[in-house]
Amino acid sequence: MGESTTERSKNGDSTWRLSRRGLFGSALAAAGAATAGAAAGRMIDGESTADSGIEAFHGPRQAGIATPAQSHALFLSCDIARPDRAALRDLLAGWTATAAALAAGDPAPEKDDTPAGFSAHTDFATGLDPARLTVTFGLGPSVFDGRFGLADRRPEHLHPLPEFAGDVLNPAWSGGDVLVQICADDMQIVSHTFRALRARMPGLARMRWTQHGFLSRPGGGTPRNMFGHKDGTANPHPGTPEFDRAVWVASPDEPDWFHGGTYLVFRKIRMKTAEWDQLPIAEQNRIIGRRRDDGAPLGGHTEFDPIDVSARSANGDLEVPADAHVRLVHGIPMLRRGYNYDYGILLANASESTHPHEHPAGTDPNHTHGGHNQLDAGLLFAAYMNNPPDQFIRAQHALAATDRLNGLIQHTGSGIFAIPPGADPGEPVAVALGA
Ligand code: HEM
Repeated sequence: MGESTTERSKNGDSTWRLSRRGLFGSALAAAGAATAGAAAGRMIDGESTADSGIEAFHGPRQAGIATPAQSHALFLSCDIARPDRAALRDLLAGWTATAAALAAGDPAPEKDDTPAGFSAHTDFATGLDPARLTVTFGLGPSVFDGRFGLADRRPEHLHPLPEFAGDVLNPAWSGGDVLVQICADDMQIVSHTFRALRARMPGLARMRWTQHGFLSRPGGGTPRNMFGHKDGTANPHPGTPEFDRAVWVASPDEPDWFHGGTYLVFRKIRMKTAEWDQLPIAEQNRIIGRRRDDGAPLGGHTEFDPIDVSARSANGDLEVPADAHVRLVHGIPMLRRGYNYDYGILLANASESTHPHEHPAGTDPNHTHGGHNQLDAGLLFAAYMNNPPDQFIRAQHALAATDRLNGLIQHTGSGIFAIPPGADPGEPVAVALGA
């Protein structure tokens, strides 16, 4: 595709925005090119949906990591159906081809054994822009447990996470052989992509869990979490040496096939929003160590001011309390690319034992709760890093011990995955693993 038909997105990442000029100009003339197919797919009644977003699927890194966070995400974890490397290989090959096509705005490829009269193209997303769709694949520790003859290729740090104080993990929301992170700015695109990937699973893999998340960026800035605080302020910026040092695997201790990849730590964290909303804002700010309204560190003025951990107020107290969330993990680098979730009242999970809470003195213990003890809302914490023991595990041990947030959150799901480097056109993801 020529430079004249496209514009690099302003944030300088791998997004290509097809301009209307491009849609009606040489891109369409290049019949057969994936991007032209994408452009045609976005025509509605002869008009383009304009300013379309395509994230490049292929490249040295998988998309969906350095990509600016889209507004919807679905995480899917599954187990390979049988101890057979061919099942893993076929799943990754089918999924890679499907993801590459959908990310380019093309229909999902037909399976070889699709009976006549059936189609993998469901029309469920026809006419929609790919909405910056990214599909990111990961492999859990169990892939290297010997079932597939890959034990000698295990990434250095790909081991189940240790137990942390306060964990209330539900096995039904944890672990898995293969993880897929699907992100896009349109939930229908996310759902359609999930459906197309799921259609590739029969005979190869069994679904283990899915989680759906969302986020919005006020004015294009840092998104807010379910407690109303800006979340992601201290993240390293893609393209900087700081980002590369924290995220991409380059250590000689790691197997060659994994170089250029990264690790994903996933935690489903329930946030007790009803209890939080009853705290004064000044206390909420002390719990986090930053101001809720503008994200500035306590003692600072604006969101991106450095955190001064030794700053004291006029009465001699630490501005950022000793047990404030940001103090405990300050300077531990990782890319936090999480999503909010809100499942409302999830009956399957509505027991006191999974959401213990206290009532203020004098409250009737049998009060109706307004349903708050059954709410399942919070954070799908998803962090990318190249050294989990020195990053997530160190940080989570510190938080689990003393974080002022602990009474207001609960870790209920968990997983760690090796995210292989990106795929070249025509190749499945993780081809260098030799699965
Ligand atoms: C529901 C749970 C959590 C909430 C509500 C939360 C919220 C926040 C907020 C509001 C900030 C400040 C803004 C920012 O820099 O992004 C922050 C920073 C941070 N959080 Fe969390 N967080 C949670 C869980 C975690 C977990 C589980 C970890 C890792 C184990 C973690 C690691 C970090 C780190 C490394 C920073 C940046 C600290 C710095 O260098 O200043 N957070 N978090």
